[in-house]
Amino acid sequence: MGLFKNYVSQTRKPEGVLGKMMLNGMNSGHAKMADWGISHLSISKPAQIAELGCGGGRNAGELMSRFPDAKLTAVDYSALSVQKAAEFNRDMINSGRCKVVQGDVSALSLDKNSFDLATAFETIYFWKDLVKCFGQVAGILKSGGTFMIVNESDGTDKASLQFEKIIDGMKCYTEKEIENALISAGFSDVRTDHHPDKPWITVIAKK
Ligand SMILES: C[S@@+](CC[C@H](N)C(=O)[O-])C[C@H]1O[C@@H](n2cnc3c(N)ncnc32)[C@H](O)[C@@H]1O
Repeated sequence: MGLFKNYVSQTRKPEGVLGKMMLNGMNSGHAKMADWGISHLSISKPAQIAELGCGGGRNAGELMSRFPDAKLTAVDYSALSVQKAAEFNRDMINSGRCKVVQGDVSALSLDKNSFDLATAFETIYFWKDLVKCFGQVAGILKSGGTFMIVNESDGTDKASLQFEKIIDGMKCYTEKEIENALISAGFSDVRTDHHPDKPWITVIAKK
């Protein structure tokens, strides 16, 4: 595998030295887009948040700053992401507001019907069987709970489609594909916003 392919493939499941570099890069590189996504949330005081595919943990930290009364569980299937996210949020872990756990969104072991908000930034591209994974998210949300997906690809932009060819197992979904998968998984009230200048999308749905 060429070095470039090996490096960009770290977005799927970060591992080793290249994975560490990628996680640092994602924490800073995704911040603007993540904050744009978070600005769409109308939920005021979520008590429990699940941050899925948390990577290096920056967005978990940001959510805890925005919602100072919330407790947050960050989940990732990469051991390295779990380690980095835990380091990034060490103070919040020590104060009892944050947990970082290793797990796959296709088989979530979090408590059912217990989260007010679930978030997924730049991660659903790698979720095998979107409807099944969205069904898992629905399972952990309380009735009326919110699921927010934020992607820097709208499934049609050239750059991301190039990455889709390079990174095994990556799929850039269109807004319609995400909306349909959410509805098939039992979500309703699906709203999508597309950034005016960039291919960024935020999709918010209710359980
Ligand atoms: C591109 S990174 C994004 C990380 C972070 N959300 C951000 O915006 O910076 C994708 C992350 O999703 C995780 N991931 C992908 N598929 C997953 C799955 N099925 N279950 C849990 N984590 C997953 C990867 O390990 C990786 O850390």
